[in-house]
Amino acid sequence: MCGIFGFVGKRTDAAVMAVEGLKSLEYRGYDSWGVAWKEGDHLSHKKEIGKISGVDGHSLCDVSSLAIGHTRWATHGGVTRENAHPQFNEDKTIAVVHNGIFENYQQLRSELRTKGHTFTSDTDTEVAPHLIEEYLKETGDFAHAVRLACKRFTGRYAILAVHAASETLVAARTGSPLIIGVGEGGYFIASDTPAFQAHTRTVQYLDDGEMVITNGKNILFSDIETGGERTKREIEIPVSEAPSDKGDFAHFMLKEIMDQKESIARAVNQSEQEIETIAEAIRNAKGTFLVGCGTAGKACMAAEYFFSVVAEHHVNFAPASEFKLYHHFLKKESLLIVVSQSGETADVLEAMQVAKSKGAKVLSIVNVKGSSIDRASDYTLCINAGPERAVASTKALTGQLAVLLLIAYALVGRLKEGKKLLLETASMINDMLNPRYVERLTQLADRIKRHENLYIIGKSWNYPMALESAIKIQEVSYIHAEGFAGGELKHGPIALIEDGTPCIVLAGRDEVMPDILSNAVQLRARGALIIGVSPEPNEIFDEWIRVPDAASAQAIVNIIPIQVLAYFLAVQRGKDPDMPRNLAKSVTVK
Ligand code: F6R
Repeated sequence: MCGIFGFVGKRTDAAVMAVEGLKSLEYRGYDSWGVAWKEGDHLSHKKEIGKISGVDGHSLCDVSSLAIGHTRWATHGGVTRENAHPQFNEDKTIAVVHNGIFENYQQLRSELRTKGHTFTSDTDTEVAPHLIEEYLKETGDFAHAVRLACKRFTGRYAILAVHAASETLVAARTGSPLIIGVGEGGYFIASDTPAFQAHTRTVQYLDDGEMVITNGKNILFSDIETGGERTKREIEIPVSEAPSDKGDFAHFMLKEIMDQKESIARAVNQSEQEIETIAEAIRNAKGTFLVGCGTAGKACMAAEYFFSVVAEHHVNFAPASEFKLYHHFLKKESLLIVVSQSGETADVLEAMQVAKSKGAKVLSIVNVKGSSIDRASDYTLCINAGPERAVASTKALTGQLAVLLLIAYALVGRLKEGKKLLLETASMINDMLNPRYVERLTQLADRIKRHENLYIIGKSWNYPMALESAIKIQEVSYIHAEGFAGGELKHGPIALIEDGTPCIVLAGRDEVMPDILSNAVQLRARGALIIGVSPEPNEIFDEWIRVPDAASAQAIVNIIPIQVLAYFLAVQRGKDPDMPRNLAKSVTVK
């Protein structure tokens, strides 16, 4: 979702760095971009709809040492140049870039209108420069004016503000991430570290309710509410894989699918002590809740089955966006386990706040160390999948599933057995993802790519994987795909089946196999084309995608061919799987 970049210092290529910084945040998903820079005593800017990838920052400005930039994912107002950030006050002396939502922007707009302000965009963001201008008139101090404006905003947000007559960059956050990069020639402020990793790996994290003021030489952290000074540690972040490195692969999505040859084993090779500690916390909790969104949510839902089948232990899954409605069930002895690839998802952060307000402990399973969710948790486990750049989550999901299954085994004293199963599964996946297998899935994509509807069924842990299969196919190929519990078909969805409708059946060699096959028979009787994803063939399958028999890890192996299929459906339908329309990688708004 929206990306933020800012720089102030002695370097004169601030605008160039802003363009490059925004390019490295492209993976988050966006629809327009903009940069504002200080040139002499005024602010210049450029805003465009579409991609920034082909833009040369030198064409903007070579002589600026203060710049802010933004990639926008539309929330309030359509995708237009006017709605792109930075947003300005009327005389364009104040520029603001913003992530998140000012929930009270309508009230602030009408208040500012009565004071004579006019607005040129449909965004909530535009109230910020106008409000700052009002407070600047009152106080004569830009940073103070930003603080007073921030005290008026409700909702989750991160902003960067600059003023034509000042050499300072002012930033504030409540709910959306902002990270400071301490560079040789000045300070960077961005929503994610790739934006400045080419320049520095020394960072300082801004926490919720804090603001920062820097002129490139000095930096001051303070509390938005009280203005009181805060101190910050400098942290060295590890050298990560180059964000733009997709090797020989045509797309990040395919690279990340193939990364699963190693990433699952990395997720499993956790410290056994840490897994045991988590299992102990679940054992002692009075009620364990699992929350996540989208794909990560499907991992949580699969974990309900892992905990039931492997450990006979009851846990409750809720989509993070629904979790606050469960607050009556929470007490201080409850445990909330949140699962998130990015560690920045707003709905998950809100669920954590709900749990914390009841005194409950929060354990997070993330892929990004240092993310907001990691830092707000009592305990974090990292799945170590490596950077995931494609919008569609693939290797993070299988890492999450592996860790959750491992915890289920640990809960009943069978950690070593679980680890052995998962490492064997990882090795079988390594063998499975060979060129012949991929070619087979390319051919299958070719057979079904013209269908506009596709259904997937599963039972037990394959039911959440059916839901996940639908997400994967929808988001990259734009085919209408839906997942169902196999047993639910006869209660309604079967009415959708027509002659030739492709239906994918996710199966394992387990006690529910006869049930899911009988659901497949029901589909076939209505003319469906049955695509079986299963360790063994069956006469009911028109197409059989063979997967290894992975026992209780079957969900992990079954989802992988669907990821590959979704990828080829997208490519063969002429879509860019890495940048699906309307979607963002980090969903930092509710
Ligand atoms: C789909 C996908 C999303 C994310 C969801 C949560 O492929 O990636 O559904 O799973 O937005 O994101 P994280 O895991 O970053 O919290």
